Amino acid sequence: MAAARGEFSSRFGFLMAASGSAVGLGNIWGFPTNAASNGGAAFLFTYLILAFALAYPALMAELIIGRHARANAITALRSIASGPRTRLLALFVGFAGIITVSLILSFYAIVSGWMIAYFLDPLARIVQMDGFASWLTQDAVARNAIFVVVFMYMTIYIIRAGVKDGIERWASRLMPSLIFILVLLIGYVFTLPGAMEGLRNYLLPDFSRVADPQLLVDAMGQAFFSLSLGVGTMLIYGSYISKEENLPTVGTLVALLDVGIAVLAGLLILPAMYVALGAGVQIFDANGGLIAGPGLIVSVLPELFNNMGTVGVFVALAFFLLMTIASLTSSISMLEVPVAYAVEHHKVERPRAALIIGAIITLISLIIVFNFDQLFDLVVTVTTEMSQPLLGLFFCIFAAWIWQRNEVLQEIKQGSANAENGLFWKIWPFYIKFICPIAILIVYFQ
Ligand code: TRP
Repeated sequence: MAAARGEFSSRFGFLMAASGSAVGLGNIWGFPTNAASNGGAAFLFTYLILAFALAYPALMAELIIGRHARANAITALRSIASGPRTRLLALFVGFAGIITVSLILSFYAIVSGWMIAYFLDPLARIVQMDGFASWLTQDAVARNAIFVVVFMYMTIYIIRAGVKDGIERWASRLMPSLIFILVLLIGYVFTLPGAMEGLRNYLLPDFSRVADPQLLVDAMGQAFFSLSLGVGTMLIYGSYISKEENLPTVGTLVALLDVGIAVLAGLLILPAMYVALGAGVQIFDANGGLIAGPGLIVSVLPELFNNMGTVGVFVALAFFLLMTIASLTSSISMLEVPVAYAVEHHKVERPRAALIIGAIITLISLIIVFNFDQLFDLVVTVTTEMSQPLLGLFFCIFAAWIWQRNEVLQEIKQGSANAENGLFWKIWPFYIKFICPIAILIVYFQ
């Protein structure tokens, strides 16, 4: 084990880092459109229940295992294994998590690179470099490749500096800025014509949709991706939490921040889309649903900003800064997973590990960039829809079926002496043992 392990210096630092991981592109372009196309507040309601009933227990499993072992995912899972067979399983699950999260980062970096390009676009237009501006917003291999490298460089730069001077310091600066920009943008968009219609579409519940199985599946997938579960990200952040900290409480705060910012993002995105509709921008796709995902961010919204004249320049700058921040605080949490393993297990120095592993992931991103049509969707599907939920299931199995129940309790009691009698201990073990695995399996086979 490395001589001096990093640790978050305060509860605030941990909360910013962990909510920074959770709040990402998934919250801002996934949640709002998912909600609008699935019955508005009815989706919101279902999402809240699933996030707290299913994703929160799984988040707690990772945090507790991580803080107990104070180690990377592989070492941590092996330390709670009970025999040779489960030790082998631990190795396999931990390693699969490292590979999965590295691949998630490889596609996330491509999309994040677009955010930087779109951030530079209004700047280029201010200084009248119109040729450069249109290069920035045209989907081309060269542009994508360059911005993948820029984004990965920023990620590596932060991870090199370690837990306190890298992750915590940057998350503590970036997350408050993100919330500030988000609130500012919401305030502005609310003054525009059409905003209230968007708000209605977002918030008016259509309860006939709540029982729709597809809605449940979507909401659950969204909750798992959004809380960064199943690949050891939250486990490694948990391993940097002080032993004095009350785990159920900080876990709850992370989940609340994640859900809260997703809901806030909806107050921006949906009104903005209906303002765009009023300005003549196409916001529905061929099937009549709202345009979601990358199309929303790189076509609908930029078109709206262009329609706004001079103000639009500032709105575009603020919006793409927001997106870049959201991406960066997530991407560092992904790179930390393999880097922590290399540092602790192979005794590589952190700056070297960050650089080498970051370079390998950049290379994988570039391969995807050069074969975008064949690879991009494939990597997204295999990692987020297949690998991630399955690994999440195994984390639950480790926490509930393999680890000694008494040791779990001892771990929670550090920082929460009375945990034994608390509500958390009455409910969580049952959830993590039965409800979570079954729910994940159901969603998986959908
Ligand atoms: N949760 C982030 C988002 O909503 C993405 C993310 C960060 C992630 N770390 C992860 C997703 C680990 C899966 C696994 O965009």
